[in-house]
Amino acid sequence: MDLIEHEYADLRALRTRRAMHRAYSSPVDDVDEVTLALARRWAGARGTVVDVGCGTGDLLRRWARDGYAGQLVGVDRSTAAVSGTRGGGVVVVRGDACALPLRDGSADCLLERHMLYHVADLRQALAESRRVVRPGGAFVAVVNMMDTTPRLARLLRDCVSSEGTPVRPFPRVDSESLRPLLKDTFAEVEETEYRGELVFHEPEQLAALAASLLVFYGLERGTARHGRMVEALREEAARAFAGGAGPWRDAKGWSLFVARR
Ligand SMILES: C[S@@+](CC[C@H](N)C(=O)[O-])C[C@H]1O[C@@H](n2cnc3c(N)ncnc32)[C@H](O)[C@@H]1O
Repeated sequence: MDLIEHEYADLRALRTRRAMHRAYSSPVDDVDEVTLALARRWAGARGTVVDVGCGTGDLLRRWARDGYAGQLVGVDRSTAAVSGTRGGGVVVVRGDACALPLRDGSADCLLERHMLYHVADLRQALAESRRVVRPGGAFVAVVNMMDTTPRLARLLRDCVSSEGTPVRPFPRVDSESLRPLLKDTFAEVEETEYRGELVFHEPEQLAALAASLLVFYGLERGTARHGRMVEALREEAARAFAGGAGPWRDAKGWSLFVARR
C-alpha cells in the first residue's frame, strides 16, 4: 500500500482538514457550496454528476438532500470513501481517476476537487475526464494555488527536517501547472479564484491542522516518528502563541476551473 492509499484508508485526517479550513478561513471557505452553485448550471435538473475522489461524500449527499432528480455518482480509490459515501440516493464505485469505470460521454458534469495532487499520471487523468464528460458538458477541477499557506508549510518542513531526515517533496499539482494542461485537453477553460487566509486563535487549532498534513511530508500515521512529529507540532504551535502572540494568520488560495468539452 502506498502512503496516499494508507492515508485515505480511513478519512479522519481528511475530515480534520476539511473542518479546519471551513471553520478558520476568512472569508468563509466552503468549496462544496461554491462547487454546487457552479455545477448545478452544468448538470441541469436531471443530469448525471460524477465526483471523482469524492472522499467524505459530503458534497454528493448535500446535493441528494436537496432532492436532485438526476444521477449522483461518486468514484474513489479508497474503500473507506466508497462505503462512507454510498446510499441516500448516491451511487459510488471504486475506481481510479486514470482509468474511470464509466462510459464515454456519460457525465454532464464531472468534478475532481483537491484530488489531482494524488494521481499517478495527470495527463492521463485529464484525458479520462474528457472521455467521460459528454460533448457540451463540463469538467470542474479545484486545486490549490502555488505557495498556498506558506507559513504552515514552513512549520511542517522545519519540524519534519529537524531530525535530520530530508523532507520528501510532495508531488505538487497547483493552479499554475494545471492551467496549461487543461487548455491542451479541453475546448474552453474558465477559472475562478478563492483568496483568503487561515486565522487561528488557539494553538490547538494550528497543531491539529498541521498534524493532519504530516502524510504529505512522508510520515505514515501510527509510526513512532509520526507520534514524535505530532508532539513537536504541538510545542511549535504553543510557541507561536506564547506571550499573547496571535491570532496566527496564513495566506491561502485555490482555483476552480470549469473546462468545457
Ligand atoms: C484530498 S481528498 C479530497 C476529497 C474531496 N474531493 C474533497 O474535496 O473533500 C482526495 C480524495 O481522492 C481520492 N483519490 C486519490 N487518488 C485517487 C485516484 N487516483 N483516483 C480516484 N480517487 C483518488 C482519495 O482516496 C481521497 O478520497
